[in-house]
Amino acid sequence: MTQPERKILVTSALPYANGPIHIGHLVEYIQTDIWVRFQKMRGHDCLYVCADDAHGTPIMLRARQEGIEPEELISRVSVEHQADFADFHIGFDNYHSTHSDENRHHAELIYTRNRDGGHIVKRMITQAYDPVENMFLPDRFIKGECPKCGSADQYGDNCEVCGASYSPSELKNPVSAVSGAKPIDKESDHYFFKLADFEDMLKRWTTAGHLQPEISNKLGEWFESGLQEWDISRDAPYFGFEIPDHPGKYFYVWLDAPIGYMASLQNLCDRTEGLDFDDYWKVDSDAEVYHFIGKDIVYFHCLFWPAMLDGAGYRKPTAVYAHGFLTVDGQKMSKSRGTFIMARTYLDNLNPEYLRYYFAAKLGSGVEDIDLNLDDFQARVNSDLVGKVVNIASRCAGFISKKYAGRLSDRIHQPDLLERFTGASDMIAGHYEQREYSRAVREIMALADAANQYIDEFKPWVLAKEDGREQDVQDVCSMGLNLFRILAGYLKPILPEMAAAAESFLNVDPLTWNDLQQPLSDHTINKFKPLLTRVDPDTVQKMVEQSTATLGPKIENQEEKPMDTPLAKDPISDEISFDDFVKLDLRIARIARAEHVEGADKLLQLTLDLDGETRNVFAGIKSAYDPADLEGRLTVMVANLAPRKMRFGVSEGMVLAAGPGGSDLFILGPDEGAQPGMRVK
Ligand code: 2FM
Ligand code: ZN
Repeated sequence: MTQPERKILVTSALPYANGPIHIGHLVEYIQTDIWVRFQKMRGHDCLYVCADDAHGTPIMLRARQEGIEPEELISRVSVEHQADFADFHIGFDNYHSTHSDENRHHAELIYTRNRDGGHIVKRMITQAYDPVENMFLPDRFIKGECPKCGSADQYGDNCEVCGASYSPSELKNPVSAVSGAKPIDKESDHYFFKLADFEDMLKRWTTAGHLQPEISNKLGEWFESGLQEWDISRDAPYFGFEIPDHPGKYFYVWLDAPIGYMASLQNLCDRTEGLDFDDYWKVDSDAEVYHFIGKDIVYFHCLFWPAMLDGAGYRKPTAVYAHGFLTVDGQKMSKSRGTFIMARTYLDNLNPEYLRYYFAAKLGSGVEDIDLNLDDFQARVNSDLVGKVVNIASRCAGFISKKYAGRLSDRIHQPDLLERFTGASDMIAGHYEQREYSRAVREIMALADAANQYIDEFKPWVLAKEDGREQDVQDVCSMGLNLFRILAGYLKPILPEMAAAAESFLNVDPLTWNDLQQPLSDHTINKFKPLLTRVDPDTVQKMVEQSTATLGPKIENQEEKPMDTPLAKDPISDEISFDDFVKLDLRIARIARAEHVEGADKLLQLTLDLDGETRNVFAGIKSAYDPADLEGRLTVMVANLAPRKMRFGVSEGMVLAAGPGGSDLFILGPDEGAQPGMRVK
């Protein structure tokens, strides 16, 4: 059914300009690109803009490390990013940079309007300062020993060994990651955005259908803990925009990053006749604005950004859509396992449409993480795309070219089957619109199965050998190719290259969604060329091997992460499945021995008895328990946790603790009725 034309602006989060695009990033760009291609195919006026996120301390330091100016770094990275995106068929209408005149203009405008509205305040704060480099240090640039487990060489915000989050002042023996010097505390004036001024508006906006339900709920919890003022300034040296009237003070990268969405649109408007910035951003705009983002940056897009827009007299987004993270073979991407795969490494080995298809087959509208299982990836691409979809065309095309000079029949052999295919249009469109791509893929593959069954039933290769069946062969193969055309059209948002190859083979104009309702009849097609080949397992292996090769120094991959927001400390955790829960082996253990650990402020060393088997466990419970009170008592432990090497020895499990921390931490269970070694669940 035709819909009235909509005016739509779509964005994906802006990648930092200090590192390459990897397959984790691609989940979002592929998700967004599919949605945009779908909207365009439906005939809507849809623009997709993006840019490099070019400011901040990590970019400044990275350039310094390379001995170049930040401008040189960001222009080189921009070229690399755009090549990666283009090769993955991410079809931006414009790609710009936050380090641009348009962004400076809009950042200053949004800032001054908020300032004039009374939403900015100055406050003196004390921060870690590198006395050698003469710069303030973001949390990620202070290293030291974890205050919780004592592991050395941990960042100032969280420990990679035990996962604890803390503030940099809690680190033991801190040093600057830039110069190695011991940081000192230093005072400085900062400018803060008064987020709480927008509390009422945000409470309404975040519950009015603009966000996914799980995001609205999470924001509800954050409202309860109160909206904090947001520090939007950084001191020199900093790579960014100087704040008007405050020399030596710069906008924090996250202030001007989302404004980059506007800057990219502005840049496009300035180059395009008839395209007007205000049509999209004025308060009473009838355009729709959508931001696709990762779940780690919800706070910025669902609180700060709408508040800044509101304070500056702009409209707010129609919706913000968050997605989960990518795991590979069930685990976080890892350089040592070869699963931290750069976009370019993938492209050097495999067809980008395989990954677009696989992600689509996994993506829904929620914030759950998605897993790229490399075996499943090969099996799925081979069986669905090559074995089902392309197979339909290759089974029918030869007969039409050889026996009928490429001419399709003027009859529909099975109108009911055709009707099933065309009739699925609204349902599949609904799934795309709702970002339920996995459902769309499932429906499309069910149709592909039906098309193959049809060909199996009528067997044109058998008919072709029988006398007087010429018309039947032409009818069946034409029907098969019409079904293939509809499938290629339904898959076009996901597989634009495959669809383009199909269009050229079928000798038709670029397919729109509505075109699929009308079959080809008495129409000449071109010679068939294979549209997709099977995934070669050796190539996948080669890609993994190439991805293990380079383990750059840690600092190179640092990104300016939103560590000053509650989200960073309270991430939207994924639900675990029942199967994950079942994996936990929770056992009653008797605390056979409890001892202080020399040199550790928070740890006690526990020897746990699981009915014969003993385990050594380091637990951060010193603030709550005297070791003498623990010996002989029962506790609950996770008994099947992989052993972890800690500074003081190997920990062979974890005890379960409840409570807010400090002296209120409880690990003991009732002593009666329980036996060491007993399973708790
Ligand atoms: O988290 C990130 O990678 C940021 N560069 C995203 C910025 S999105 C927008 F706000 F610009
Ligand atoms: Zn730790």
